[in-house]
Amino acid sequence: ARVAVIGGGQNCEHDVSLASAAAVGGALESAGYAVVRLTIGRDGAWRQGDGCPVDLTDAIHVLRTCDVAVPVLHGPRGEDGTLAALCDQAGVPYVGSGVLAGALAMDKWATKLVAADLGIAVAPGVLLTPSTAPAHRWTHPVVVKPVSAGSSQGVSLVRAADELPAALDAAFALDRRVLVEDVVAGREVDLAVLGRPDGSRTVAPALEIVVDGLFDFATKYGGGADFRIPADLADTERKELEDAAVAMFDALGCASVARVDFFLTAAGPVLNEVNTMPGFTEQSQVPKMFAAAGVSYAELLDLLVRDVLG
Ligand code: DAL
Ligand code: MG
Repeated sequence: ARVAVIGGGQNCEHDVSLASAAAVGGALESAGYAVVRLTIGRDGAWRQGDGCPVDLTDAIHVLRTCDVAVPVLHGPRGEDGTLAALCDQAGVPYVGSGVLAGALAMDKWATKLVAADLGIAVAPGVLLTPSTAPAHRWTHPVVVKPVSAGSSQGVSLVRAADELPAALDAAFALDRRVLVEDVVAGREVDLAVLGRPDGSRTVAPALEIVVDGLFDFATKYGGGADFRIPADLADTERKELEDAAVAMFDALGCASVARVDFFLTAAGPVLNEVNTMPGFTEQSQVPKMFAAAGVSYAELLDLLVRDVLG
């Protein structure tokens, strides 16, 4: 089959996506697929392979020559449902979540509303806009983050009142809505949920991120964090995490695979966020979790594509 692998994108996770897309394309090629590589520039221009920019109409033509698309984009204008919408309009089947799940999961505030409705704990926090932010007063340590961003871009830990303005500026630089959340004291535990077309859900062995301090952009991509798989969990903790991860996957309407990130506190799991297109190099969390379950990187990608081909 012919598979379009799309990478890049118009946001600060562009390079992270290029790394994910290169690995995904390579693995699908070795699995025997004819891979067509499409890249979206930071400026929104599409390119095929290493070639010249193609306009959007041509890009859609190329997509339509493929049996399935694999949009390996992270962040706004990629993971947020916009690329899924393009594929839907073009009539091209694709791996991954659809418009609504992408949009809801990209929006950390909407994600929290869904989680709260399911009875899943989230960090207490407030939503700020440029008009409400100036009146906000710091009273205790908080995490400031853009509502829609990824890879910890624009995220700051604010330990003192005089750090707040710079943290808000950094977050507002990426989004018009910003979350100010209480710091959650807990272990960082990620779960990968695989949703099959028959409705079955598989949760891979949980992964704990062992890191000193914040799991920020530098730690994420500078090699400063250790992954422990499976995470050392009590049976009740594992079940609570798995149930919450699957409940979020289904409530948001995710498809294919999603990574659901938690803080595990003394009082139980607190949902951090859901990634509908998580980092997807062979060294990224989701492929590592499935590898621990005996599913290799190439097998996982082959399965995701075959599920869409039907
Ligand atoms: N947003 C990055 C790619 C991740 O969640 O893995
Ligand atoms: Mg993310």
